[in-house]
Amino acid sequence: MNAIDSFRSAAYNVALKQMFRIPPERIHGLMSRGLECVSSSEAAQAVLRKLFVVDEPSLAQDIAGIHFPRPLGLAAGFDKDAKELNAWGPLGFGYAEVGTLTSINQPGNPTPRLFRLPADRAILNRMGFNNEGITAATQRLRIRTTPEPIGVNLGKWKRTDAAVAHNDYRNSAQTVGDAADYLVINVSSPNTPGLRDLQAVETLRPIVESVQAVNDRPLFVKIAPDLSDADILAVTDLAIELGITGLIATNTTISRDGLATDSTYVAALGAGGVSGAPVAARSLEVLRLIAERAGNKLVLVSVGGIETSEQAWERITAGASLIQGYTPFIYGGPDWVRDIHRGIAGQLKAHGLASISEAVGSKLEWKRN
Ligand SMILES: Cc1cc2nc3c(=O)[nH]c(=O)nc-3n(C[C@H](O)[C@H](O)[C@H](O)COP(=O)(O)O)c2cc1C
Repeated sequence: MNAIDSFRSAAYNVALKQMFRIPPERIHGLMSRGLECVSSSEAAQAVLRKLFVVDEPSLAQDIAGIHFPRPLGLAAGFDKDAKELNAWGPLGFGYAEVGTLTSINQPGNPTPRLFRLPADRAILNRMGFNNEGITAATQRLRIRTTPEPIGVNLGKWKRTDAAVAHNDYRNSAQTVGDAADYLVINVSSPNTPGLRDLQAVETLRPIVESVQAVNDRPLFVKIAPDLSDADILAVTDLAIELGITGLIATNTTISRDGLATDSTYVAALGAGGVSGAPVAARSLEVLRLIAERAGNKLVLVSVGGIETSEQAWERITAGASLIQGYTPFIYGGPDWVRDIHRGIAGQLKAHGLASISEAVGSKLEWKRN
């Protein structure tokens, strides 16, 4: 880290302290307004690109016909309505996932529904898919100018019965069409009643098939860290059988185990999913489980508490072609994005590898033998 980088990191930490005095959803709204301005200003984008983009050919990959210039993407939930599309690439991300979007707009859960757990470098949220709906987002996706890929994460409308949830996913997939570079079936948010039950293979199958019937974009399913190992393997087998592109692991956890934050305080916050550092160990475990089962039959995207470039490298060598983050971006800012990419590029060089694709899964048993 040079002097300018150290200064910027220190400045971000000071700004973070001030931001943390403001209620989380309010500051999220303010940040989003700022990012919307960046998204519509080519001059701002050019400045940010100089600061945060690690332009290193070894980091680029072509996956399922999509060119990913860098492996770290913005995870779903930050840019729910695809309003900041042109800002993510300049902030250093190699791609971004917007949503979760539902077929019809909905307000989400009552506030407060977003909480910081700084002692755990974590967030607890029960947003409940607040979004303006897939139609509005699709219009924005169609006029974006960013060269970085944008994935679209789809969910079920709160009041849709689980038995007909596949209609919701199909309608959204049809509406978004080819405006998305890839699609994600999100069946793993803890904040929509009954949603996670859709991960059971018998309910997941019709959802996947409904989406595949109307949209031929690369398709991922995003799963929860709280599934049993047996259920994770069952979803992996189904994903292979149905020929989807891959899995995104993982969403937030409903577990409150091992938190440093006072347990009475956490209990008083109520329901929701925890993200950030506390989910890292299980997220890695789930990745390893899927990677050993799937071999090279699925593209794996790892997300959950990836704070350092060492952790990023661990995920990649454990089988993740791509990685994502949300909570570490809140705590680390765009410097975190740049440092992760610099760290991976450094590891590739140190291992004498010309491309990140040579590193993907290099620690897997089946790949070594
Ligand atoms: C405030 C908040 C909102 C989120 N909303 C969504 C969402 O709408 N859809 C989704 O698939 N994941 C959502 N997530 C989960 C993240 O995409 C990610 O899977 C999870 O936070 C773990 O990654 P992290 O530790 O890097 O945050 C949300 C996370 C947070 C913190």
